[in-house]
Amino acid sequence: MPFKTHFDIPDHLIYINTPGNGLMPRSHYHWRSEREASFFAPEGNLRDLQPQFIQHVRQDIAACFGTDSKRVYCTPNFSFGFNVLLEGLPKNSRFLIIEGDYPSLNYPIISRGFAYQTVEISERIEEDLWHKIETDAPDVLAISMVQYISGLKIDLSFIKKLKAAFPNLLIIGDGTQFIGTEPFDFDSSGFDAVGTSGYKWLMAGFGNGFIMLSSAMEHTIYQDAKKKQRPQETMWINKTILHTYFEPGHQDTLSHGTLQQSLLFLQRLGLQHVKTHLDSLRAYAYGLFKERQLLLPIAANRDIKSSIINLQINPDLYPKLTEKGVCCFPRGTGIRIGLHLYNDTTDIDRLIHIVDHL
Ligand SMILES: Cc1ncc(COP(=O)(O)O)c(C=O)c1O
Repeated sequence: MPFKTHFDIPDHLIYINTPGNGLMPRSHYHWRSEREASFFAPEGNLRDLQPQFIQHVRQDIAACFGTDSKRVYCTPNFSFGFNVLLEGLPKNSRFLIIEGDYPSLNYPIISRGFAYQTVEISERIEEDLWHKIETDAPDVLAISMVQYISGLKIDLSFIKKLKAAFPNLLIIGDGTQFIGTEPFDFDSSGFDAVGTSGYKWLMAGFGNGFIMLSSAMEHTIYQDAKKKQRPQETMWINKTILHTYFEPGHQDTLSHGTLQQSLLFLQRLGLQHVKTHLDSLRAYAYGLFKERQLLLPIAANRDIKSSIINLQINPDLYPKLTEKGVCCFPRGTGIRIGLHLYNDTTDIDRLIHIVDHL
């Protein structure tokens, strides 16, 4: 069954705005309606089962992305988890970041006064990062796995090599534009932290996300707090110190339940099948966009490609595109689109027809 059949997308729309926010499958609508009704019923016990429910979500995240649920934290979005992580790192940590990376990633580092250096985004980003790490020895590298404007995707095998060569370097990945597009195994990835929001490629709406930490990262952060007396109240007896920071209060079960439904949905379809679909759709789209010289060289010249494409169409034409039912967004020097599992070659053909007649 084509992936698209799981979604209700009206014929007049070409939905290619997943880098902004993703669509939810129809089954989420049913699950959420039923869940709301049961949650609302005073005689029901769903409200009381909140801790167990969130624990199951952590377990499903861990199972989906190859890690231990003890090192997974449910957060309302990427930014929350990342800010909490930063607060726990030694204040004298020196960072390496990418110039122009997503503000939720760079700004909290800069605004907290951490020492940092930047690397310019380029086709040779991996070489440049390696060189800077070799010469300046930063403590932490913090980067988006896929850049939100250009769609440049970091070579994930590079991260493994980097970790092997510089085992003390802490590597933080923002997976918000990546997680949900292909299989990903956190524990063997070389990353020490990967966080994501759930509303884009995970198709889970707002209010949910998570962060996964390596044992080394868990050991490094919040060292002072770990030396102090832990809370004595029995209701917090099962909370680790890190849980008191990353999940300081009750989590929204409807929202995190939606994330869980997404993970189950993706596992049913198979993340490898999703990747295969996206690879072939991207190859088709790249061919047509290349003929028209619509591609950004920085992304087009690299073999490793993400699902984000920044089409070099004047951003001022954005209202015209929306008028014609193209859900996209102006970013940088062009119009940013994203191809997800609910897209197919028909969407590309229709988009090309519209673009050719702009
Ligand atoms: C790379 C990247 N990180 C993070 C986010 C969003 O983070 P949050 O959901 O915490 O606002 C975006 C959203 O566009 C993004 O592109």
